[in-house]
Formats: sequence, C-alpha cells, structure tokens
Amino acid sequence: MSDKKFTVLDFKRKKENGEKITMLTAYDCPTAELLDDVGIDAVLVGDSVGMVLLGYDSTVNVTMDEMIHHAKAVRRGVKNAFLIADMPFMSYQAGDDDATRNAGRFLKEAGCEAVKIEGGQEVAARIKAINNAGISVLGHIGLTPQSAHKLGGYKLQGTDPESAERLIQDAVCLEENGCFGVVLECVPGVLAKEITEKLSIPTIGIGAGVNCDGQVLVTHDLVGFFDKFVPKFVKQYARIGPTIKKAIESFKNETEAGKFPDDEHSY
Ligand code: KIV
Repeated sequence: MSDKKFTVLDFKRKKENGEKITMLTAYDCPTAELLDDVGIDAVLVGDSVGMVLLGYDSTVNVTMDEMIHHAKAVRRGVKNAFLIADMPFMSYQAGDDDATRNAGRFLKEAGCEAVKIEGGQEVAARIKAINNAGISVLGHIGLTPQSAHKLGGYKLQGTDPESAERLIQDAVCLEENGCFGVVLECVPGVLAKEITEKLSIPTIGIGAGVNCDGQVLVTHDLVGFFDKFVPKFVKQYARIGPTIKKAIESFKNETEAGKFPDDEHSY
C-alpha cells in the first residue's frame, strides 16, 4: 500500500485515470489509524457522529464544538489520507461570513484539509466564499440529512424528471463554484452516472450506484456495529456488534462466577 500523502489534487487525477476513490468516516483516533493503515484515500469526520456516536435522533443537533472535538481526535490518527470535516447544521446556512469562519476553525483548530457542505445552488455563495478563503470544499447533494424534514424523510432523491434535472444543475453549479468533488447520496444509479459523466470533478457515491468516481460509507455501518436498521446501500463486511456483545457477556459471566481474573491475568 502507498505511503504517499493523498492531496486535493489526487481526487481529479484519480477521476482522469479512471481509478476509484475510497472515503470512509471516522470520529476517533483508533478508527482513523485503521483507515489510514489500509490506505483509504480520504477520511470524513461526518456529522453522522451525532447519530452514530452521540445518540441524537438526527444530524441537526450536532454543534461546531462537537465536530471540532472529534476532528482533532481523527487528525491524530491520520497520516496519509485526506482529512475532511462536515460543516454541521447552521454552521454555514446563515451567511458567508459565518460559513467562512466556521470552515476556518476546522483547518486552524483541528488540522483538517477540507470541509463538506450539504446543498446545491442555494449554497453556491457559501462555497465560493469558503474557497476564496483558501479552503477546499466537498459538495453533497441528493439526500442531504440536515434537510431531512424539508425533504419529507430519508428518501431516494431525483426520482422524477424535474428533481433529476435540478440535481444535475446543482452538481454543475457546485463544480463552477469551486468544489473539488461532490457526494451524491441516495440517487438512482442512472442519474449518478449522468452527473458523473457531466462533471470534471469526481463524484463520491453513497447509495448512488457503481458508476460514481468513488464510494463513501459510514465505517460503523460497513463493519456491522448496528443491526436495528441497515439501509439498502450498506454492505456489512463484518458484524462486529454481536462480537463485541459476546465479549462483554463473557466478561460479565466470568466476573460474576469469580473466574476472572485467573492466574494468567493476575500479578
Ligand atoms: O455525515 C456523514 O457521515 C456523511 C457521509 C455519509 C457522506 O455525510
């Protein structure tokens, strides 16, 4: 595996060479180290941390300070991967100044290399302002979880001709305003293919089919940490949730039975 630092320039290079881009989420240092060791191209400190780790019902509750706290931990574990932080709800919606200052915090305080923003044409000015401050921006369209209430839930997007056309225009607008890539979440594979072919920046799909230039997943989903609800687009490459539970049960049972610690684990 390569020991070379992945930079913003490598996103476009990979697209041009037809090489797939890999991106996964991390919210803590040990997970970040595992992703980096494997050679994952980009690590995203997603605002999914709110639902995955913090017990919130949605990503809307996540604050800038919580994101900075997790981004700092991830930074300590990442050496070669490109480090991106999610701008949480209301850290950029209110205006360009707010957006630029908050994006800057991720670089200055947490050592991130880029930020991700949800939205299309309506956030074009924000993206431009952040870019003008010298900060790289990854776009995110389709199912944008911060707007789940407005979208009527966590649903497949771009399913009728008007909304599909709107997503194409959004993607083009994000490229024109300086995004180095665009996450396409929960859109039909044929639409994702059309967008991917139209853009010169890479698309990173999640629930958007195989024709995107790269794929992103929530790491906890792919390792099977939870099994209450598994979205259709998640492939569980392992099921560590039950393994962890079994280990905890064994500790409980052995402790209660006076079998732990045994001689091997005592001084
Ligand atoms: O918050 C997140 O983890 C994300 C990815 C799933 C794209 O936005």
